[in-house]
Order: sequence, then C-alpha cells, then structure tokens
Amino acid sequence: ELGEHRHYMHKEIFEQPQAVTDTLEGRITQDHVLVSAFGHEAEALFESIQQVQIIACGTSYHAGMVAKYWFEDIIGLPCQVEVASEYRYRNPVVLNNTLFVTISQSGETADTLAALQQIKQLKAKTPSSHVQTSSSSSYDQTPSSSGLTRGSPIHKTGLNIPTLSICNVPESSLTRESDLTFLTHAGPEIGVASTKAFTTQLVALSLLVTAVGKTLNLMSETQERKIVHGLQKLPGLLQKALTHEDSIKQIAQGFADKTSALFLGRGTMFPIALEGALKLKEISYIHAEAYPAGELKHGPLALIDENIPVIAIAPHDDLLEKLKSNLQEVKARGGQMIVFEDEMSCVGSEEGFQVVKATSNVGRITAPITFNVPLQLLSYHVALIKGTDVDQPRNLAKSVTVE
Ligand code: M6R
Repeated sequence: ELGEHRHYMHKEIFEQPQAVTDTLEGRITQDHVLVSAFGHEAEALFESIQQVQIIACGTSYHAGMVAKYWFEDIIGLPCQVEVASEYRYRNPVVLNNTLFVTISQSGETADTLAALQQIKQLKAKTPSSHVQTSSSSSYDQTPSSSGLTRGSPIHKTGLNIPTLSICNVPESSLTRESDLTFLTHAGPEIGVASTKAFTTQLVALSLLVTAVGKTLNLMSETQERKIVHGLQKLPGLLQKALTHEDSIKQIAQGFADKTSALFLGRGTMFPIALEGALKLKEISYIHAEAYPAGELKHGPLALIDENIPVIAIAPHDDLLEKLKSNLQEVKARGGQMIVFEDEMSCVGSEEGFQVVKATSNVGRITAPITFNVPLQLLSYHVALIKGTDVDQPRNLAKSVTVE
C-alpha cells in the first residue's frame, strides 16, 4: 500500500496535488464556485449570515485561522476562530445570523463535536433572542460580562445559526449533526500528522469564502474568477513545491542536534508557521514555537542564538518588507535563518540565509496552501534523521474521541 514511500506521512504529502484535484472536482466550473457544493440549502442559509464562527482543534484549527484572514480580507465578513476545548467551556457570546463552521479531518473529535452540540441545544432552547451564551441554561435579561445584553427579543423565530461541517470522513458524527456538510476528498489519512487533510480543508474554506461572498454580494465576478483560476493552478503549484525535497533534506541535517526551533510568518503565513511548528514537534519531538514575525521584539528575540534555527515563510506580498526587517534582527543575533520564499521574494540575496525557492509567485489563496508543503517535508526529514515513529508519534492518537 505504501508503494515507493517509507511512511504514510510521506505518501500523503505526495498525494496532495491529487487530493486538491479531487476536492475541487464537481465543486467549481471554469470560472465559478458552485454554492450548492455546500448542500442544496446552502444558498438559502448563507443569505442571512452576518458573521462566521469557526471551531476546530489542532491542525484543523490552523486551517480555520487561515480562513479568518480570507473572510475578513477578501469579503469583509467578520470571522472568529477558536479551539473547541476553549469555546465549549467559556460561555461565549453567540450572535444571531452566525454561520457556525466546524472543521475536522475525522469528524469524531470530542471537543469539536461537543461545541457543535452546544450550539444545537442553544438553538433548540432559545425562542427569541439576538445574543446568547451557548451554555446559559435560561433565557434572561441580565447584562453579560462582555457588556452586551443577552436575550433582547429581536427575532420571534429563534436563533438563526446554520451549522456547516468541513470533514474528510463521510457519515461521521460531525456530518450527521450539521445542517450542511462539505466533504474534503483527501482520501483516507493514516499518518497521525495531518497533511493532505489540512490542504484540502484550506481548499474547502477558499470555496466557502467565495460561495458566501457571492451569495451576499460581497465578491465581484472578477474576484471569483481569479480565485477559481488560482485554485485550478494549485495541483501544479503543489507538484512543483514537492520537487524541492532534496534541498529540504539538506536543511533537515542541520536540525538533528537541535532542541528548539522558531517559525515566523505574517498574515496567513502566521497560521502556516503555527502548523509548521506543530508538525515539527509532533513527529520529531523538537520543541518548536511559531510567532507572528512582528511579535519578535516582544519577547522571543531573547531566545535567539546560533543554536536555534529560525524558519521564515516569505512570500512576495505586502508584508514582505516588514518580514525582511524582522529577519535582519534575527541575523544580527547570530540566529540560523532558513527562508522559504517564492521566485519574486529575493530574501535569498542576504548572506548567511539558507533559502528554498519553494514556489513561483502565488496569490492570496494559493500562497498559504503552497508554502505549507515544504514545511511538511522539513518535519518529515528531521523526524527521519532522528529515527522517530513518523506515522505513530508517541502519546498521540489519530482521532481524539475523548477530551
Ligand atoms: O480529526 P480532527 O481534524 O478533528 O483532528 C484535530 C487534531 O487532533 C489534529 O489535527 C491533530 O492536531 C493532528 N495530529 C496534527 O497533525
């Protein structure tokens, strides 16, 4: 089953171009995203939404974080994202007309499922209100701690909170409990470290932003066409990113004796940095942290010396100049810099940086999806050198069905 691959993780990393093709299949036309890809009722349910709440855990949470940037930047729709284990226990304020999105590879993650069930109970229990906490047992008029008055009776028909799950497993608990479901067609993911599921979750979320954007007239046809054309190029971009495996292997050699690593990114590359750090700690057991590059001066710069590799994700975008000056600060302190850039970034001209030109110039949607691939390969090759159990890392389970 593994074919030419030593591990499922490696196989699944290399399946990503196909997984993207399969996830797009039947969901887009030449120039358009089909809103009905989210279900026959999707258009009617999307019509009244005013904000989005995303709930997930681990890698799926990182996909949600990328989507927050997209929702707010591309269509101007407010979007919150939170890990399920926090959301379910903190009495969150839930606004009416919220699209409640859960993201999960397995569809069985206990906390994510519990957060969804809480919202469903809230909907069932609340006859009329515009703001409510998801765990409040009764409907009252007392001011909430956030200062918002809960329970102001605006809608007579109850809370409008359509639920959508983005999931890789059909007939899972999450899909059964949601109003709408979008299945990522990544195929079975065996490695505990999530790779192709994450990539297809991002594809699903880019389609969601577009579907919601056009339903609410927040996106022009030109914008839609641009996104669709970008997505059509994605399998090729991922294929190209995979060709850098040899140079990434070389870089991985420098990691075997390290105990710590720092990942930096700005904008959507911040969640990609978080995902890169999670992958590294998960399979190589090296302590890794990710920071938005702008936070360096607020603490993590104190960590930097020649023993800590710093991995920067540097696409040619509006934030590149800002990132470059952050990298200079790292360099000045003797840090070992590894930069993943595209063909236009030109960070590589700096002396002393190890640079991988991971991709050609990519767009707002395709950039985070593409830049994640070399980071997956880096973790994989570090783990290989360290001799860890790549597909079944210690202490972890593929599906976290208990909290
Ligand atoms: O099945 P889910 O997507 O709900 O799982 C969530 C996390 O447990 C999962 O993404 C975990 O963080 C991965 N092992 C990371 O590679």
